[in-house]
Amino acid sequence: MQTARVSWYFGQKLLAARLSRPVPPPERLRDRPMPDRRRILADLRALLEQDWHNIAAGHYAMPADDWGSPIAELRRAVDFFADLGSVEARRQAGLGGRLPAPAAKYPRYYLQNFHFQTDGYLSEASAERYDHQVEVLFGGGAAAMRRQALVPLRAALLRSGGAASARLLDVACGTGALLREVKRNYPRLSVTGLDLSAPYLAVAQRRLADWSRVELTEGAAEAMPFDDGGFDIVTCIYLFHELPPRTRRQVAAELARVLKPGGTLILVDSLQTGDAPDYDGLLARFPLAFHEPYYASYLAEDLDGVLGPGFVRDDSALAYFSKVVAYRRKSCGEVEHNI
Ligand SMILES: C[S@@+](CC[C@H](N)C(=O)[O-])C[C@H]1O[C@@H](n2cnc3c(N)ncnc32)[C@H](O)[C@@H]1O
Repeated sequence: MQTARVSWYFGQKLLAARLSRPVPPPERLRDRPMPDRRRILADLRALLEQDWHNIAAGHYAMPADDWGSPIAELRRAVDFFADLGSVEARRQAGLGGRLPAPAAKYPRYYLQNFHFQTDGYLSEASAERYDHQVEVLFGGGAAAMRRQALVPLRAALLRSGGAASARLLDVACGTGALLREVKRNYPRLSVTGLDLSAPYLAVAQRRLADWSRVELTEGAAEAMPFDDGGFDIVTCIYLFHELPPRTRRQVAAELARVLKPGGTLILVDSLQTGDAPDYDGLLARFPLAFHEPYYASYLAEDLDGVLGPGFVRDDSALAYFSKVVAYRRKSCGEVEHNI
């Protein structure tokens, strides 16, 4: 199944690259190490093998895509290629845009065409296209990378006394891809998703319609509408690389505030410089090809430092283009003792 899946998305990735004009990297990036296609495919294979081992070890259930019929999938591919011309025009012009949205409702940095995608995060069409776009970008590896969060999640639930009594928050839940996997594995777990995009939350609502104990809330990660210490587990998947450094710190403070002492924070985000040295050049070029205005600052960010003394790193692993890091929120006594 995974071979067919990877062929489908990796094929579209190669075709999309053919249809686009490469953006030449600036001189300073030309000598940085770049993985070739063989290396990327080998790492994708390693991710899928890890995924398989995780399933065999009982960390999570066999995945099941919810993309509907093959015709629906074909339609999504057609839509992706129909939109590619506009994305390519923005890429060639280097225009990340300024989206026409009420400035009072959204932070300024958010109103851009992240990834040069049409409408940024603020339309129904963008929300419907998003998961397909991301799978093509990662050649069919996006869902498997995200699933790696379920390994520390299982450990956290075992520690917290089980799914039926725990509460999980997914910050920047987007179209609900992680929450769907979480609910497939733990139907009795109470989950909340937070995101700034109403259209993305609408897709999440649809994908999570089969489960109870699901709440989806529109709001900003830097000012979450939740009580202090209300959650046992907080997940945050592919958000940090999209935030300006100052906002990253505000979000980190909010993550600490809403998490119970002793609770678990699970971050999944892009590799950073030095995590896999052969990838450093590719990571440095990435924000030029896919408008990511704060990615360069993320590459050099000290995640432990951003989260501060309130967290202790429990576990971390690399997964293809991503890293998965689990932190434990210290109790007040522990923080004071360390200071
Ligand atoms: C790259 S997507 C990741 C979505 C999802 N976590 C996933 O794994 O596919 C980034 C998401 O973060 C949301 N977002 C960006 N800035 C945000 C903020 N300050 N507060 C809440 N959501 C935010 C966007 O609307 C988008 O859904």
